[in-house]
Amino acid sequence: MASITDPVTIDELEKYASNHLDKNAFDYYSTGAENDVTLRENRLAFNRIKLRPRMLRDVSHQDISVTVLGHKLNMPICVSPSAFQAMAHPDGELATVKAVSSLGTAMVLSLYSTTSLEDVALEAPNTIKFFQMQLYTDRQLMVTIIKRAEKARYKAILLTVDCPLYGRHQGRRRFELPGHLKYANFSSVQQSKQFKSNAELGAHIIALLDCSVDWTILDWLRSITSLPVVVKGILTPEDAQLAVQHGANGILVSNHGGRQLDGVPAAIEVLPEIVNAVRGTGVEVYMDSGVRLGTDVLKALALGARAVFVGRPAIWGLAYKGEQGVKAVLQTLRDEFKTAMVLAGCASLKDITSSLVMRPATSH
Ligand code: FNR
Repeated sequence: MASITDPVTIDELEKYASNHLDKNAFDYYSTGAENDVTLRENRLAFNRIKLRPRMLRDVSHQDISVTVLGHKLNMPICVSPSAFQAMAHPDGELATVKAVSSLGTAMVLSLYSTTSLEDVALEAPNTIKFFQMQLYTDRQLMVTIIKRAEKARYKAILLTVDCPLYGRHQGRRRFELPGHLKYANFSSVQQSKQFKSNAELGAHIIALLDCSVDWTILDWLRSITSLPVVVKGILTPEDAQLAVQHGANGILVSNHGGRQLDGVPAAIEVLPEIVNAVRGTGVEVYMDSGVRLGTDVLKALALGARAVFVGRPAIWGLAYKGEQGVKAVLQTLRDEFKTAMVLAGCASLKDITSSLVMRPATSH
């Protein structure tokens, strides 16, 4: 039975995590990049958008189901890939996938999961899971991992393109994956090179990041897998169009939760121009970065997102109560979203249109 002091909102769960996780872990999860300008902007931009609710519409039955890449989900709220979840709770990614499964939604597993992609798949074989990939100079390593993801029945490859190298932040400068945890998808690399610590393996993996590639890498990726490809980290209509030209099936508008290039706009702010740029192509557009409330979900859908993804909220849920905590996060967002829909006069997702929001004028 929930007590009155239990955290209820995502912000309260973050506070709980800040009080209960060790500093190494909390700083790793919570920080943005440089001065955290974009991290803050992700929330401020949502707050600047105002809603235009309509009254006296029949909202007695709400339908919030959606399809993502053809897969039916109970709600348009999914989980973004975030690394090293076992620092937040010993069950890590296994807890997350079970919570996602119980809510009937989807998750993306990070390449840097602390549980292997096969073990996560075995825990929830029927849950919709996508696998996140980085671009490495070692293409054979990419092929090997993608083939494993295909075999384990992941439904899409989510290619992160905003990571030619990692963004910097004071709070992460001494970060090291604790020795009892693993880069679980890299055991073959670990075995072949016999690294003595996570720090050595981590440095090797970072050195593999390929910043020499251009958009033709998407053509290559599509040639080595039959899975749909979602491109994550798009912030301009120009890049969205290139992603479409190179065969992307989906675009995740994202600034990586403010962790890569500081000073870029909030993802919600650039979402409408990206939606506009790919309109009519059949490519699905999603967003993440800063979603913390049901009204945020409503605003994102009104501005053209097919679904939203959340990164840190799932981590805060894990830190609170493992699987039950992630479930609480997803339920909270779902219930807040349904309440917001009813109050705004929307019974189903197709009622959520751009006329529901007032946006402040943008600079261009
Ligand atoms: C991330 N993110 C991320 N993205 C990715 O493509 N691969 C990864 O391994 C990670 N790892 C990661 C770790 C942590 C601790 C965070 C906070 C984020 C980015 C993530 O997928 C997502 O874009 C953001 O987290 C979304 O922003 P919010 O919801 O955290 O505000």
